[in-house]
Amino acid sequence: MRALVQTAFGGPEVVSLRRVPDPVPGPSDVLVRVRACALNRLDVLQRRGPAVLPGFRLPHIAGMDVAGHIEAVGAEVSGTKTVGTEVSGTEASGQAGGLATGDRVVIDPTLGCGACPRCAAGDPGHCASVRVVGGNIAGGFAEYVAVPARLVHRVPAHVGLAEAAALPSAWSTAWHATLTVGEVTAGETVLVQAAASAVSIAAVQLAKRAGARVVAVAGSDAKLALAGDLGADLLLRNDADVPAAVRRFTGGEGADAALDHVGAATWRASMDCLRPGGRLVTFGNTTGDEVTISLAGVYHRGLRLLGSGAYTEADFAAMLAAYYGGGLRVVRRAEYGLDELPAAFAAAESRAAIGKVLVRP
Ligand SMILES: NC(=O)c1ccc[n+]([C@@H]2O[C@H](COP(=O)([O-])OP(=O)(O)OC[C@H]3O[C@@H](n4cnc5c(N)ncnc54)[C@H](OP(=O)(O)O)[C@@H]3O)[C@@H](O)[C@H]2O)c1
Ligand SMILES: [Zn+2]
Repeated sequence: MRALVQTAFGGPEVVSLRRVPDPVPGPSDVLVRVRACALNRLDVLQRRGPAVLPGFRLPHIAGMDVAGHIEAVGAEVSGTKTVGTEVSGTEASGQAGGLATGDRVVIDPTLGCGACPRCAAGDPGHCASVRVVGGNIAGGFAEYVAVPARLVHRVPAHVGLAEAAALPSAWSTAWHATLTVGEVTAGETVLVQAAASAVSIAAVQLAKRAGARVVAVAGSDAKLALAGDLGADLLLRNDADVPAAVRRFTGGEGADAALDHVGAATWRASMDCLRPGGRLVTFGNTTGDEVTISLAGVYHRGLRLLGSGAYTEADFAAMLAAYYGGGLRVVRRAEYGLDELPAAFAAAESRAAIGKVLVRP
C-alpha cells in the first residue's frame, strides 16, 4: 500500500510517500480502507520531535483520526459477535457486533492493554502501556490500517466519512473537558479560549448543547465570527480585557467555568474571569507549560483547578452518539491527497487558518 512514512524528526520533508507492505489484521482485528484521516496537533509535534507518546518509534505512520470502509475482518470478529457492549452508549454510537466488509466506520485511536485497572475502568488513555493509532502505532496516513475491532464504531449514512474523521481526538477531548471534567450545566456561563481551534469548536457547541451561555475568546475577527455562528453568546478578542468583559456580561459575578487549552498566554485571563468557586479546566499547553499561580487567589476565591487529560471509552461513545443525533457540526478547512502532505502540514500549522485539515488517501 501507499503510506506517508516519517523517518526522522523535522519539517515536512521528514515524511515521504512510500510503498510499504499492507497491514495484516489479526484474529480480533479489522482492516480498514482509509477514506479520510484528520491531521492533529500531535501529528505535527511528533513530526517536529521529540516524540510525545512513550513507545513512539521511527519509521512511523502518523494519523490518529481515521474513517473508512472495513476491507476485511479477523476470524474472531465476523458473524454476530458483539464487541464493546460493556460500554454504555455504544449502540447509539454505532459500536455493535456483526461487523462486515464494506461497513462505514470511524476508529477510536486509544488502545489500552485491556488488563490493568485503568483499562477495566474504561480509561485506556491512562493505561501505562497505552497505544494510540497514529501516535505510537501505525496510523491513517496510508491506504489501510489494521486495528482491534473493539476500536471501531459504525458511521451512519447521514454522516460523511470525512466529517467522521474530524471527530475522534478533538471532539472526545472537548467532551471530556466540557462535560465529564468541567461538568458544564444549563444556565452556567462558560468561557472558551481559542474558540475557533479544533477542540474549542467542539467545546463551544457542547457547552451550548448543555444549555450554558458561552463566552468565546479568539485571536481574530474571523475566528470570532465562526464562534458566533456556532452559538457563542459573547465574542471577545484575546487582546481585550477579558475578565472585565466577563464580569460585565455576568452582572459582576464572573464565569462559572473557563475551558483553556492555550496555556501560559491565556492562563491569567482564565483565572481572573471566574466567579468565586468557579472552575478552570486546563487541557493543553500550546503557548507554554509553566504559569504563575497566586495560592491566595485560588483559596480565597475557592477556585477549582481541574486537569482534563485523556478521554474515556464512555466519552467517545457518548460524543459519537450526540454527534450522530444531529445539531452539531465539524468545521473542515481543506482536504489533501497522500501526495500533498507538505501543503497539508502547512495548512495545519498556520495559526490564522480555521478548521480541520484532512488527508484523503
Ligand atoms: N488534554 C488532551 O488530552 C488533549 C487532546 C487533544 C488536544 N489537546 C491540546 O489542545 C490544544 C488545542 O488543540 P487543537 O487541535 O484545538 O489546536 P488548533 O486547532 O491548532 O488550535 C490552537 C489554537 O491555539 C491558539 N494559539 C495561541 N497561540 C498559538 C500559537 N503560538 N500557535 C498556534 N496556535 C496558537 C490559536 O487560537 P487564537 O488564534 O484564537 O489564539 C489556535 O486556534 C493543543 O494544545 C492540544 O495539544 C489536548
Ligand atoms: Zn491497561
